[in-house]
Amino acid sequence: MSKAKKQATWGGRFSEGAADLMVRIGESVSFDHRLAPFDVQGSKAQAGMLAHVGLITRDECQAIQSGLDEILSRIEAGVFEWDPALEDVHMNIEQALTAEVPAAAKLHTARSRNDQVATDMRLWFKSASSEIENSLAAVIAALVDLADKTSEVIIPGYTHLQRAQPVSMAHHLLAYVEMFDRDRTAIAGVKKQANVCPLGSGAIAGTTLPIDREFVARELGFVDAGGEPQITQNSMDAVSDRDTFIAFASACATIGVHLSRLSEDFILWSSAEFGFVRLPDAFTTGSSLMPQKKNPDAFELIRGKSARLNGNLQMLLTMVKGLPLTYNRDLQEDKPPVFDCFDQVTLMLDTVAACLPGVKAQPESCAAAVADPLLLATDVVDYLVNKGVPFRKAHHVVGALVSLSEKLDVPLNELPFEEARQVHEALEEDWTNVFNLQQALAAREKPGMPGPEQVAARIAYWRKQASK
Ligand code: ARG
Repeated sequence: MSKAKKQATWGGRFSEGAADLMVRIGESVSFDHRLAPFDVQGSKAQAGMLAHVGLITRDECQAIQSGLDEILSRIEAGVFEWDPALEDVHMNIEQALTAEVPAAAKLHTARSRNDQVATDMRLWFKSASSEIENSLAAVIAALVDLADKTSEVIIPGYTHLQRAQPVSMAHHLLAYVEMFDRDRTAIAGVKKQANVCPLGSGAIAGTTLPIDREFVARELGFVDAGGEPQITQNSMDAVSDRDTFIAFASACATIGVHLSRLSEDFILWSSAEFGFVRLPDAFTTGSSLMPQKKNPDAFELIRGKSARLNGNLQMLLTMVKGLPLTYNRDLQEDKPPVFDCFDQVTLMLDTVAACLPGVKAQPESCAAAVADPLLLATDVVDYLVNKGVPFRKAHHVVGALVSLSEKLDVPLNELPFEEARQVHEALEEDWTNVFNLQQALAAREKPGMPGPEQVAARIAYWRKQASK
């Protein structure tokens, strides 16, 4: 058994200190110390409320609040000594404060660490979500810029990773903008969900003391658009609910999936087989053995990290699913995955935003790939439909033309007219006019399609959104 000192905050009923291993397994300060600014903010608001309702004096409140500011500046200067025996950020701060401000012994009045940590985390989610929103906006802006530069570059679009139909590179890139814009909506939803104050729920059943929950909610900015305080409505739910954690991890995992797919496209496009783009040296690495190598490591790492984000979400869902109400210590494990989500997702987004401006399209390789006339086989079907041939029949006819071109070993657009004509009489000499890429794209000007005007309008739309 240990020589570890007796826990000062809850040690009253214990005759023996915690085992060293209990301290090691129990501490969270090694990771929750990053909540310090929010913990201090929450405690200052708590002190303000206690003074407001008369549970402490104005002087006591003043002493507590300036003591907290003092501790935060020591933390920020890196000179605060964290003690794992005090378990977490909350008790480390409170004990350091009490050592200097005797009135701080009253700070925890009507409060439990259960509602305290729930409050700190909601404040953290609001701040983390705002930072992710900024990083998403930077990626969107970089994608829109690259789309603007590549609106004339036509590439094959793929299904099943087989050449399908021509699109502009811009249209392809703007598909990702749609994804990241949905991510923005999801993150804004997390922020809204976090914006409800649990303080006053106590350990599980509130308090008998005359607290003012609305006051403290207002102090901490848990207010709606009209400035009305938002407070949780069930004390048991408030201390055991981890839905915001799950929503946050889910939004980050989805961002990760989008970034991973984007990475995969750039990894393929930068290969010699595709050669559609060249990646900037600053975001690639060489090989220690093969001098010619230029590897797309940044995008590969982003693809790898997205797996980690999925794992974080899975971890939270699994951790919460079997817990009886209300707080269980398992819940202390909720923080590493969400902190990791934030650290990784911002790193991934910021890396992509910094890399995209250096990506250069390679128009010659794109032109060579998109010259494949089979990409416009579907347009030949439409040509026949316009001549009155039923779609199913037209599809079959073009299939036969493709098979004929394979048999004669000539490109589809170079089939001798007489041969083609024998496949279907609706084909006239002008049928090969279909094989014009600019015309094929210009014929796709309905909303959502890759027509140049549509793409330009979408670029303008995203630029306008960004300037709001
Ligand atoms: N460090 C704890 C956590 O993050 C704070 C809450 C502790 N509550 C308790 N009843 N031991 O979950």
